[in-house]
Amino acid sequence: MSKIGIFDSGIGGLSVLKVIYEKFPNNIYFYIGDENYYPYGLKSDGEIIDRSEKITEFLISQKVDLIIVACNTVSSIALDHLKKKYEVPIIGVIDGAVEKSLKITKNGLIGVISTPLTANTHIYRDKILSKDSNVKVYEVGSQELVNIVENGIINNDPTYLIAKETLEKIKFVDTLILGCTHFPALQDLILKILPDVKIVDPAKEIIKYIKNYIDNKDKSVLEFYTTGDINSFKEKAKIFIKDFEIEVKRILI
Ligand code: DGL
Repeated sequence: MSKIGIFDSGIGGLSVLKVIYEKFPNNIYFYIGDENYYPYGLKSDGEIIDRSEKITEFLISQKVDLIIVACNTVSSIALDHLKKKYEVPIIGVIDGAVEKSLKITKNGLIGVISTPLTANTHIYRDKILSKDSNVKVYEVGSQELVNIVENGIINNDPTYLIAKETLEKIKFVDTLILGCTHFPALQDLILKILPDVKIVDPAKEIIKYIKNYIDNKDKSVLEFYTTGDINSFKEKAKIFIKDFEIEVKRILI
C-alpha cells in the first residue's frame, strides 16, 4: 500500500479524502485539518505558505509517498512553491476541475465559488482562459459560506439565503466549479437555487492524477490529525464522514 497525506485548513478536505478513499481504499491515509489556523481564506500569502510548509514537512516525516493539497486556497497560492521545494510528489485540486469545466460547459459561461483569497488570485479564470479564450469565467469568493459549512450549519433558512445571494451574481452560468473543499456539503442547496447547473467537484477530478502514484494494495488505514480541538474536529467531521467513528490526534506544528 501507499502512504498518502491529505491536508486542508479544516474539515472541508474530508470531502476530497472521501472521494479518493472510496476509489482507492487500500492505502494508508493521513488527513490533517489545520483547525488552529482556520480560516485560510482570510490569511496572507506568506501565512498560507508557512502553514503549508509546516504541514508538508510533518507529512514527509511520516514518510508519505504522495501529498494531496485538498485545499483550493493552498493550491492557488502555495502549490508551485511546495512542488519546487520538496521532492515528494504533490498534487493540487485545480487543474482537473479546470479541464472538466471546459469539457461540460455548453454556453461557455463557467462560475467558480471559492474563498475570497482563491477568487483574488484568479487562478481558475487564468487557467481556464489559457486553454480556451472563448469562454467566460465568473469567480465569486464567499468566506461566509465556507464558515457555514465549517460550523455545520447547512440546512437552515439563513444559509439558503446567503447561498442564494452569492449565486445570484452568477446565475447565468451553466457550469459551476466548487472551488473550495467545504462546498460539496452545499451541493443539494446549490442545486435548489440553480437546478440546471452542472457542478464540478475538484475532488472527483484528481483521481486520474493520483492513480500512478499509489499501489492501492493490502491494507486500509485512515489517520486523522488536527492542530485544533480534537472533539470539535470529530463533531464537524460528521458532515462528510457519517458511516464510522473516527479517531483524531492533535499535533502541534
Ligand atoms: N477549504 C479551503 C479551500 O478549499 C479553505 C477554507 C478556509 O480555510 O477559509 O479553499
